Amino acid sequence: MWWFISPKIIFGEDAIEELGEFSSGNAFIVTDPVVYKLGLTEKLTQLLTARGWSVALWDCAEPDPTVSIVKQAASAMDTFCADMIIAIGGGSVMDTAKAAWILYEHPDIDLEAVNPLEPLHLRQKARMICIPTTAGTGSEATRAIVIRDDETGRKFSTSNGELAPDYAILDPQFVKGLPKDLTAYTGLDALSHAVEGYTSLWKNDFSDGCSLKAVRLIFEWLPHSYNNPDDLEAREKMLIAANLGGLSFSNSQVALVHSFGHSIGSVLKLHHGMSVGMVLPYVIEFNIKGNEDSAKLYQELAQQIGISESDSTKASIEFANRIRALQDKIHAPKSLKAAGISKKDFENGLDELIEFTMMDASITMNARDISQEEVKKLYTYLFEGKSVDF
Ligand SMILES: NC(=O)c1ccc[n+]([C@@H]2O[C@H](COP(=O)([O-])OP(=O)(O)OC[C@H]3O[C@@H](n4cnc5c(N)ncnc54)[C@H](O)[C@@H]3O)[C@@H](O)[C@H]2O)c1
Ligand SMILES: [Fe+2]
Repeated sequence: MWWFISPKIIFGEDAIEELGEFSSGNAFIVTDPVVYKLGLTEKLTQLLTARGWSVALWDCAEPDPTVSIVKQAASAMDTFCADMIIAIGGGSVMDTAKAAWILYEHPDIDLEAVNPLEPLHLRQKARMICIPTTAGTGSEATRAIVIRDDETGRKFSTSNGELAPDYAILDPQFVKGLPKDLTAYTGLDALSHAVEGYTSLWKNDFSDGCSLKAVRLIFEWLPHSYNNPDDLEAREKMLIAANLGGLSFSNSQVALVHSFGHSIGSVLKLHHGMSVGMVLPYVIEFNIKGNEDSAKLYQELAQQIGISESDSTKASIEFANRIRALQDKIHAPKSLKAAGISKKDFENGLDELIEFTMMDASITMNARDISQEEVKKLYTYLFEGKSVDF
């Protein structure tokens, strides 16, 4: 038995206006200084105050949130007695808000110990709305959070069904101004979610449906959104694709791509979407070796973008290469070297990269087992940009 868990999703131009229909209370807005300075919170605060809400705005979120930042947000929620938490920002803001929500309701919970099986008993104090300003993580739809340990810098991800927000508001006006590099990287994160959701060990028919549509949308609309930032239709399609990617992996799992991605973010400090997008083709090449079942799944994804090759291994390789071609179109790096990592920094960080990858929970969801030696080898290929042949 399993559940498909999703927030109520409000989408389309001016979807934000729907907030005006909610009954009022104490709204605690979580954002970061960039999103705040861009003025993206203004319409939200105006709408809420006009409808009689008391509003507090906390704009101290940081990229790749740490436990200590999350605790600060939770404490501010407590002081304000929030009964509605509204996150407006990228995945880092939404994860900060979701994690702080846990600690606001239950201050003694250890965030890393959160798991899918034990109830969290959320919603005794507040409900949660997420408004993404990037089109990538899908965190507005997911039961996952990704948080960084203050001492080690290691990113860990945990999940629980109750963490899926009550509402996700997908309004393209909030992603219109997203810079080109972030448009590219967050779009690749969405693609990684769709592909991993389709191929992880907990895949199911519901997550499959979300993934198949997301892959089609991303190949069609990501280059367009990158080249035409003001095209609201392209922006909206990418928001929907990211949300579908989030729904997919949230209701199945992510796997090896994210174990690498979290570790690269922790050790080399590269953007999450850039990291997972970079790793994705290498993991496809690794997963299909001696694994016909995996190759068939990648072939089904490949068919979504018009690859008609009947041999599943060849179709998977073509799919991996089409991902690399997409990266070229949107100027995303295809190797750690191309991302600006020096050989010295790579070699200095390699042991920690391997250690964090082996510790990452998502590794257990991968279709093909991987040894520590193979993780090391895959990192060296990823550094050089060499296709995987083992
Ligand atoms: N919980 C989940 O389900 C989930 C899924 C995938 C990734 N993540 C996590 O999400 C984080 C990445 O999130 P992200 O890729 O959205 O980036 P982000 O939230 O870290 O933001 C990156 C930068 O973009 C800025 N930004 C956000 N919106 C903007 C806009 N509209 N215009 C201009 N700048 C804007 C931010 O201020 C920040 O400086 C990582 O920590 C990753 O691990 C979580
Ligand atoms: Fe991701």
